[in-house]
Amino acid sequence: MLFIGIDLGTSAVKAVVADEEGTVVATCAREYSCEHPHLGWSEQDPRVWYTQSLSAIRELLSSPVIDAKEVRGISFGGQMHGLVVLDKDDNVIRPAILWNDGRSERECEYLNKEIGTTKLSEWCGNIAFPGFTAPKLLWMRKNEPELFDRIRKVMLPKDYLVFRLSGSFSTDVSDASGTLLFDVRARNWSEPMLDLCGLSHDQVPKVYESYERVGTLLVDIADELGLSHEVVVIAGAGDNAAAAIGCGVVDEGQCNISIGTSGTLFVPSNSFRVDKRNSLHSFADATGGYHLMGCILSAASAYSWWVQDVLGSDGLSPRDRGLDGIELGTNPVLFLPYLMGERSPVNDALARGAFVGMSLSTSQAQMTLAVMEGVAFALRDSFECARGMGIEINRVTMCGGGAKNPIWRKVIADVLDEPVCLLRREEGPGFGACILAMVGCGLFPNVASAARRFNGVEKTIEPDVTEAVAYKRMYARYGRLYPALKELFHLPEAELS
Ligand code: XUL
Repeated sequence: MLFIGIDLGTSAVKAVVADEEGTVVATCAREYSCEHPHLGWSEQDPRVWYTQSLSAIRELLSSPVIDAKEVRGISFGGQMHGLVVLDKDDNVIRPAILWNDGRSERECEYLNKEIGTTKLSEWCGNIAFPGFTAPKLLWMRKNEPELFDRIRKVMLPKDYLVFRLSGSFSTDVSDASGTLLFDVRARNWSEPMLDLCGLSHDQVPKVYESYERVGTLLVDIADELGLSHEVVVIAGAGDNAAAAIGCGVVDEGQCNISIGTSGTLFVPSNSFRVDKRNSLHSFADATGGYHLMGCILSAASAYSWWVQDVLGSDGLSPRDRGLDGIELGTNPVLFLPYLMGERSPVNDALARGAFVGMSLSTSQAQMTLAVMEGVAFALRDSFECARGMGIEINRVTMCGGGAKNPIWRKVIADVLDEPVCLLRREEGPGFGACILAMVGCGLFPNVASAARRFNGVEKTIEPDVTEAVAYKRMYARYGRLYPALKELFHLPEAELS
């Protein structure tokens, strides 16, 4: 038996095929670009997601090691929060507004100040962040009223794939949690938030648990791909929830760090709970439980901005960049990674990146290291929030492109002062989606038991005592950067630059 997992990311879609033993048989990726029509905006065409996903699936199925007739189920892990809107004929009305788009800053101010964070948190378990879906709907209602009036269906990125592949207008609890239209505790849409955004129930998808079956492949698509008409489509999850499943992070006390375009810190929770200041998101989990999550908007994207766009070098080898043997914990340069504004924990769409502490002897290697360190410090902010909620973390795993960089993962272990486990499988969200498909097809009684079974640690990176002490001091200095610069970011002319 074979299962297909689709990881719909921000820079690419990755398709994974795994068998029932959890062996990844084949993978295939297709890239696409992200448009930034204005400073702080971020958009993609959902139709490109669909054509690139189909192209990746087609290529996978053409592999000689895959027997298409063995495929039983397909599921998804998708970039979260994106606003996809369809009209009465199911045509895409406008490009999707993505999770790292900061345009709805004013709408968030209205929601958090006028409606108030207490009410929002009561209704949804979360407050408003510009990346979330509801503020973007309010932005559309105000700035594109003709387009807003044409909306018949609102959905999340991976739900668009599900819709095109199966005809089912559905979502799952983990992804719906990031809309701010959803009562996370009750695992259903929030009436007051739907009202506030001018939406009726038939405009939002039917909600499923992540491992539930929402339908089967449309016949013409199954035929075109050479798949059986019985292939089951399983709801899937937000990419971070899917990555946690793929990495076996399903129990309280564990924590998964993902360093992709965004950086996230994901903590399963035995019960529904909300951080006093809502610094971490409280979301429903793909296991049927709940989790807490901190998200930084620029992680591997900060690194590729610096290395590729600024330095103009695309080789990723640290050795090439003079980083091999560099002493950790002694860098005079600090970097604030807020290149797209920031979500956790500062919630500031106008914040921007900064390098501080350079001198005439500063080297390129020090600035490159500062970028990795800045991301690690930003993730530590969320780690501290989780600890502040009384959650004891005793196992940290790491996935995403950044986890492949040996220096970066050592920096993370040192900055958190925690051992960091690397897993045998690299395909976090895609493999998590395969697990959801297996559970949906009845191979396992529940998601957690399947995820535990397939979780294999390859090696553990231990923190270095001396470096961890040095990083503690640097983290204290880093913590003063944003408060010192905030006023500057908010000057009216800063908005124009
Ligand atoms: C999570 C978030 C990002 C996207 C990236 O809240 O916004 O991690 O899901 O794909």
